[in-house]
Amino acid sequence: MNIKLLPLQKHGDDRGSLIALEEGRNVPFTVRRVYYMFETKEGVRRGFHAHKNLKQLVIAVRGSCRFLLDDGNEQIELFLDNPAQGLLLEAMVWREMYDFSEDCVLMVLADSLYDESDYVRDKAEFLAMTKPANQL
Ligand code: TYD
Repeated sequence: MNIKLLPLQKHGDDRGSLIALEEGRNVPFTVRRVYYMFETKEGVRRGFHAHKNLKQLVIAVRGSCRFLLDDGNEQIELFLDNPAQGLLLEAMVWREMYDFSEDCVLMVLADSLYDESDYVRDKAEFLAMTKPANQL
């Protein structure tokens, strides 16, 4: 699957912790956008899309949530609860996020500005796009 878990170097001392995100160093793409999800209500499941081209790095900077990832061939469930770990999602990975802790702040760095035409929001369409042409 087109994903990676990237360890992020933590600069910790007796005052606390600090992590720096730097384009081309520990973030493997040009950062054009940052957004974050917070105050997610209990029981909410969100996402339900893939991107045709977008690359994203997702970090649970506080709290935790679960991811269901699907590339059309395999499904992976991941638990994100570590601000020193980034989930790199490349193109054409269907994602659903759920089980957000009340305090969860999920921060996302992306390599493009928001563009609705890059979204695939229909799961059946996504699955059809991931199949080789001779299986359609
Ligand atoms: P949405 O795509 O529904 O979030 P998700 O699929 O991750 O659950 O986004 C919620 C709203 O925020 C929707 O109206 C689009 C808007 N939005 C932006 O304006 N800019 C952004 O960068 C993102 C990610 C969403």
